[in-house]
Amino acid sequence: MIIKPKVRGFVCVTAHPDGCAAHVRQQVEYVRAKGALPGGPKRVLVIGASTGYGLASRIVPAFGAGAATLGVFFEKPGEEGRTGSAGWYNSVAFEREAKAAGLYARSINGDAFSDAVKQQVVEAIRADLGQVDAVVYSLASPRRAHPKTGAVHKSTLKPLGSAYTAKTVDTDRGVVSEVTLEPASEQEVADTVAVMGGEDWEMWIQALSEGGVLAPDAVTVAYSYIGPDLTWAIYRNGTIGKAKEDLEAAAGRLTAKMAASGGRALVSVNKALVTQASSAIPVVPLYISLLYKVMKPMGLHEGCIEQIYRLFEGRISAGAELDAEGRIRLDDWEMKPEVQAAVAGLWPQVTTENLGSVSDIAGYREEFLRLFGFGLPGVNYEAESDPVAPLPSQAS
Ligand code: NAI
Repeated sequence: MIIKPKVRGFVCVTAHPDGCAAHVRQQVEYVRAKGALPGGPKRVLVIGASTGYGLASRIVPAFGAGAATLGVFFEKPGEEGRTGSAGWYNSVAFEREAKAAGLYARSINGDAFSDAVKQQVVEAIRADLGQVDAVVYSLASPRRAHPKTGAVHKSTLKPLGSAYTAKTVDTDRGVVSEVTLEPASEQEVADTVAVMGGEDWEMWIQALSEGGVLAPDAVTVAYSYIGPDLTWAIYRNGTIGKAKEDLEAAAGRLTAKMAASGGRALVSVNKALVTQASSAIPVVPLYISLLYKVMKPMGLHEGCIEQIYRLFEGRISAGAELDAEGRIRLDDWEMKPEVQAAVAGLWPQVTTENLGSVSDIAGYREEFLRLFGFGLPGVNYEAESDPVAPLPSQAS
C-alpha cells in the first residue's frame, strides 16, 4: 500500500515501515560515527524500548558498546491494508540492524505493567543472557492496569490546586490560543502517580532480582523532567510532576536495596523533546517549538539519540556528577540561563500570525512526522510499502 501521514490532533495514526527503518538507521549511524563507548554495559534490558528515549537507550548500548539488548514495548503490528504503530516498525528495523551487526536482540511486545510480561522477561534473560547489567525504565503510558489490585489507573495532565491559563499551540493547525486547565482532584493525582510514578519500576527490579537475573552490580535508570517555570504549573507542579517526584523517590528506595551488592538506581532528568508522549501535554509543544528556535542557532540542540549517547558516555558510571538531589542532569543545556532567558523573551510575543518566524514550528512538525517515519531522506513515499513486517526475534 502507499502510506501517507494521517495526523489527528497530536497523533499520527499511520506509520511508514521504510521511513521508520530510515529513522532507526540514522540513529545507529550517529552512534557509529561517535565511536565506541568503553566500559558500556553488555547486557541491557530496556522497558519502553520502541520509540523516543527508550529506543535511543537501546540503540546506544547496542551500537556503541556491542551490547545484547532485550526490549519491552506495547505496539501494534501492521496488517494487510493497515499500518502498524511506529514503535513496531522501529523495533523491526532495530532488530534487523542488530542482526546484521551480529548483536543479540530480542523483543517482547506486551503490557510491561503486568506480572506476566515481567515473568516472560525474567525467563528470556535466564535462557539467553543469564543476567542483565543495565535496566532502562522509559515507559510513557496513559493508563496502567494494576497487577495486584486489578484497578485501571488513568493518568491526567492537569495543574494542582487552582485552574491554570496559558498559551498553547495546536501544532497541526498552527493556531496559538489560551487554554484553561482545571485543577486535578486528589483521585486524579493518585491515578497519575500510579501510572507514571515509581511503583512499577520497583516491581520490575524486584521481579528481576527475585528471578536471579539482575547482575549484582547492575545499574538501573529511569527518566524524569523538570523544565522551566513557564511550564511548571502543567508539568513539574502538576499531576505528572507528582508522578516524577514519586519516580525520583523510588530511585532512593531502589538504591538502598541494591547498594549492598554494588547496584545503583539513578534518575536522569532529560531535555524536552518531540516524542509521542510529550506532544500530548498541553503548553509543552509551544515551549519545545520556542526552545528549538533558541537552541539550534546556539549549536546546543539535541535529539533523543544525542541525549542518550551523552548519558552512556560516563554519566551512569559510579562517581559521575549528580545534582544536589542525586540526579543526572541531561537537561543542563536546556536549562542554561541564556537559553531560558531567550525562550522567556519569545513566549509573550508568539501568536498564530508570527508562529512560523518566532518559533521553530516547522522543525517541530518535521520531527513529529519523523517519529512516524515520514519525511526521511532516501525513502520513496510514492512507492508501495508492505505494512506487514514481522519482528525477526519472533519469526523463529
Ligand atoms: P514515548 O511515547 O516515545 O515512549 C514510550 C514507550 O513506552 C514506548 O516504547 C511504548 O511502547 C512504551 N509503553 C507504553 N505503555 C506501555 C505498556 N503498557 N507496556 C509496555 N510498553 C509500554 O515516550 P518518551 O517521551 O520517550 O518518554 C519516555 C520517558 O522519558 C518517560 O518517563 C518520559 O516522562 C521521560 N521524559 C520525556 C521527555 C520528553 O520531552 N519527551 C523529557 C524528559 C523525560
